[in-house]
Amino acid sequence: MTLPSQDSSAVTKARRRFPSEAPARPAPVHALPRLPYALNALEPVISATTLAVHHGKHHQAYVDKLNELVAGTAFAGLTLEDLIMRTAGTQEHTGIFNNAAQAWNHAFYWRCLKPAGSDAIPEVLGKMIKESFGDLAALKSEFAKAAIEQFGSGWAWLVLDGAKLRVVRTGNANDPLPHHLRPLLALDVWEHAYYLDYQNRRADHVHAVLNKLINWEFAASNLA
Ligand SMILES: [Fe+2]
Repeated sequence: MTLPSQDSSAVTKARRRFPSEAPARPAPVHALPRLPYALNALEPVISATTLAVHHGKHHQAYVDKLNELVAGTAFAGLTLEDLIMRTAGTQEHTGIFNNAAQAWNHAFYWRCLKPAGSDAIPEVLGKMIKESFGDLAALKSEFAKAAIEQFGSGWAWLVLDGAKLRVVRTGNANDPLPHHLRPLLALDVWEHAYYLDYQNRRADHVHAVLNKLINWEFAASNLA
């Protein structure tokens, strides 16, 4: 989708007329969300060092780059969801899509985790898991397979597809939103998510997160 371009001629004329009165740079629209727990709250599965770098450096960089890319364009002021939906699949806006999707994916991902997660699942979600997968073990097995087998960087997701739950995986920054699938859970399998703690042992990281850190209440809340 091509958005109408802004009328930049009036801005240019105003700047020529009042060169010393350049408009103040607006505050960034997109901000790094705070983590919903302390940096060391997910240890020993995810170390404080990994979380500090992942959130404070990688996630921050996506937010900063996105603000840089949309500043002064017709995309300024749009939500992350709108940016993802409007730029998905376009060649000319790949940078905006990648950074908007990564900003959204990470903000979602932090909420999928919680310290000392358990297998206690809200009733409505538990019923849907039983209908779609048979039981929680089968869901975890399929989810782990998607996360482990995703070649290179990407994400594993539990999504709502109509009335049914599905496990899907996406490469790089891609997420389920443009496919009209509702994300319930996400697991980041970019190396930056685990390499400091697990090096090349992605499977160990995936199984540890699935068994010890999943916030099933958050997943259930996304059904609404
Ligand atoms: Fe990440």
